[in-house]
Amino acid sequence: MAKGIKTIGILTSGGDAPGMNAAIRSVVRKAISNGVKVKGIKKGYQGLLNEEISDMDARSVSDTIQRGGTILGTARCNEFKTEAGQQKGADICRKHGIDGLVVIGGDGSYRGAQAMSRHGINTIGIPGTIDLDISCTDYTIGFDTAVNTAMQAIDKVRDTSSSHERCSIIEVMGRNAGFIALWCGVANGAEDILLPEKYDYNEQNIINNIIRNRKKGKTHHLIINAEGIGHSTSMAKRIEAATGIETRATILGYMQRGGSPTCKDRYYASIMGAYAADILCAGSSNRVVAYRHGEFVDYDIEEALAMQKSISEYEYEISRMLAI
Ligand code: ADP
Ligand code: F6P
Repeated sequence: MAKGIKTIGILTSGGDAPGMNAAIRSVVRKAISNGVKVKGIKKGYQGLLNEEISDMDARSVSDTIQRGGTILGTARCNEFKTEAGQQKGADICRKHGIDGLVVIGGDGSYRGAQAMSRHGINTIGIPGTIDLDISCTDYTIGFDTAVNTAMQAIDKVRDTSSSHERCSIIEVMGRNAGFIALWCGVANGAEDILLPEKYDYNEQNIINNIIRNRKKGKTHHLIINAEGIGHSTSMAKRIEAATGIETRATILGYMQRGGSPTCKDRYYASIMGAYAADILCAGSSNRVVAYRHGEFVDYDIEEALAMQKSISEYEYEISRMLAI
């Protein structure tokens, strides 16, 4: 099966995401079943440059599918953005006999993967980020767990918010992308959903909405605010001053990135991991695995990075209509 590939290296890079372990497990076991050796690289590209590399076998990934985080660790590494760092990384791979590499991460990690391919190491990317903000794919590993974790937390805040007839601003992750905020906003029945892609920074609209809803008999007012907009605490103070309604801010933060992955995250990660190992063993390089229109596919990294993904106008309109 393996077209010249003898040893695959695997690393996780950028922000961790629940389900990364299922992807690692699947890459390791599929590669081994294809007759290829696997080496685990700790702490992303930084660990590669530090030569934190060790052999993995089928047992190295036992009892990991249900665990959050990444057993390989992850890091951000500025040195890898330089030509010298990338050359060093490729040389270290060759020194350790690694002729194929799987990188699990987001767009930034894909640029590193692209560099490795350029330097002669066959490299495949797998989409791992809770933000869902990788354009070439409808699904990214970790999103489903993150939105379910956030949704459950928001339900709890909603209970106390209703009891006290308060307004609540709940900040969810997503620096540049509002997918977590949109999904939770709809799933939690929020009255206002603030997305980095859409928010017009007109707080008066929110204030008017709160007052209108109170007159209509709503006992709480839930605002889901994306991290990219931020400032939830000061926003709460301003809204309370303007409306006279007690307003509290809750920032969910890193709890959204942890925890045992959902079935969906484990399943998609498992299929994507095996897919990556297979195309790598078949001789592909400079490609990323994706899930698009109901199918597992792969794209050239250049092409994948040039794609655009935006919040659907229709879904956004529905989210606003449902809050009446
Ligand atoms: P993500 O992969 O989740 O988008 P980052 O953008 O933080 O996360 O990228 C993760 C790592 O990928 C960076 O710390 C760096 O080591 C590597 N990386 C990012 N951009 C580049 C680039 N242009 N060239 C090479 N490596 C990069
Ligand atoms: O990419 C996932 C993510 O959790 C974003 O939503 C968030 O903006 C970012 O990572 C935070 O990263 P860091 O670990 O550097 O604080």
